[in-house]
Amino acid sequence: MELTRREALKLGLLGSAVLLLPLERTARAQLKEASRIPESKLPKPFQVPFSVPPVLRPVRRDATTDYYQVSMRQSRVQILPGFGKTTIFGYNGIAPGPTIKARGGRDTVVRQINRLPSRVVVGELGYEPTTSVHLHGSDSRPQYDGYAEDVSSPGEFKDYRYPNDQDARTMWYHDHAIHHTAENAYMGLAAQYHLHTEQELSLPIPHGRYDVPLIIKDAIFARDGSLIYDDEGHSTLMGDVILVNGRPWPTMKVERRKYRFLLLNASVSRGYRLVLSDSEEMTVIGTDAGLMPRPQPVGSLKLGMAERYEVIIDFSRYKVGQKVVLRNRDLKNNVDFDSTRRIMQFEVVSEATSEANNEIPGVLNPGNHPYNPMRLQESQATGTFKVDLVRRKGQWTINGKTWDRERIDERCDLNQIEVWEITNNSGGWFHPLHIHLVDFKILDRNGRPPYPYERGPKDTVYVGEGEEVRVIARFGPHNGRYMIHCHNLVHEDHDMMTQFEVGEGGLDPVTTAPPKPISEATPL
Ligand code: C2O
Ligand code: CU
Ligand code: CU
Repeated sequence: MELTRREALKLGLLGSAVLLLPLERTARAQLKEASRIPESKLPKPFQVPFSVPPVLRPVRRDATTDYYQVSMRQSRVQILPGFGKTTIFGYNGIAPGPTIKARGGRDTVVRQINRLPSRVVVGELGYEPTTSVHLHGSDSRPQYDGYAEDVSSPGEFKDYRYPNDQDARTMWYHDHAIHHTAENAYMGLAAQYHLHTEQELSLPIPHGRYDVPLIIKDAIFARDGSLIYDDEGHSTLMGDVILVNGRPWPTMKVERRKYRFLLLNASVSRGYRLVLSDSEEMTVIGTDAGLMPRPQPVGSLKLGMAERYEVIIDFSRYKVGQKVVLRNRDLKNNVDFDSTRRIMQFEVVSEATSEANNEIPGVLNPGNHPYNPMRLQESQATGTFKVDLVRRKGQWTINGKTWDRERIDERCDLNQIEVWEITNNSGGWFHPLHIHLVDFKILDRNGRPPYPYERGPKDTVYVGEGEEVRVIARFGPHNGRYMIHCHNLVHEDHDMMTQFEVGEGGLDPVTTAPPKPISEATPL
């Protein structure tokens, strides 16, 4: 009998051959199926009220810098109504973690303390939960970039310093520990970080309580409420529960006005194709690395892992009492369940209580920042690099090679402009490719212009089955080694990741600012 890949995935069979004997695998698969909540028993959607993660307060501010402290902890929280508590790893014990709000031109220092247990079991794997915190979207210096090998063990801390010298954007901080990123992030080590600037705050777009994080993530739960980690033999993790800001299929009460949503796909492996249930328009105003040159109305948008989009939904077109659902259409090579076809619900409950900042200006970002990539032209490029995303002998690779801390696959000068050609010749997988340090512009996708919603500064690009995408960036502002990888975290861990180096004399990401034991911490 021939199973399609999708059916095989649903049965948990894919990729198993490489790693396990069929019999052993079947026994494990059956065990997992036995403890997994069947689809028919999952909680009904839209029962749980929407909420947003708390905003973290600085412990101190001085003339130039805001200081924050975060503890990574294991904790037990109530996620699924009607089921037991769930053990998670969280920044400050919550998942997603607290939002950090930074101001352009001021540094932040975030002390990240690893208070996780010395040994944990996630899925079939017991390990010491070392951590490395990456601020995804930031042009951090190498020693603060969350380099995969720059890990802190339980009982250690590290002070990360961030420059906040870029355009306003929705970033996120998440775990990046070598070979355990998928497990650590799946268990909850992910959160947003907003960089606000004068330019962005002066625009009449929704701000404050109308500027709302939506962190979307899938998960698999056992009947006792615990999380099941199952990456199908290091291939992909496909949950059947959709969490928005940590809550299953919530309902958000909204006013009749515009809202700005800061979308982030924090899933390990699942992509989304988002659409409103009445097929009405959404307006994309921002991409991974901030505001687009001009707004782009869309009917739907694909959201690959780690991608961020700022999307305005105008609820003034509905009547008080109306409900609209944010849906998810099937996407090639996802494993879809009925339960993953909806994300959350909006319920219009009142007239607008404020009409301030209720506009979408025609020009959002003039593109004056020296590293804004939107004005870069192909003719300015003085180098190219080919990134081929391939599976070879059961391994996930970039150009046929897996991660090696000692190997550098591309070098460029500081501030050199390069075009990178990213190809995915596999039929069966999509790979969101992330380049650290830089913001890029998508030049073309399969020889055609990028999708309208991608016409803004990006740091992660959805490279679909058989696709070729070309991007352009100015490589700076720091010298040093930075990672490139697929943001399917299972692929990243096994080992679709490599690195490039900008200039010479960059600081070593591992030895320059090593973690220290908690006992040696002095007050921030
Ligand atoms: Cu969001 Cu290198 O990661
Ligand atoms: Cu990153
Ligand atoms: Cu991938």
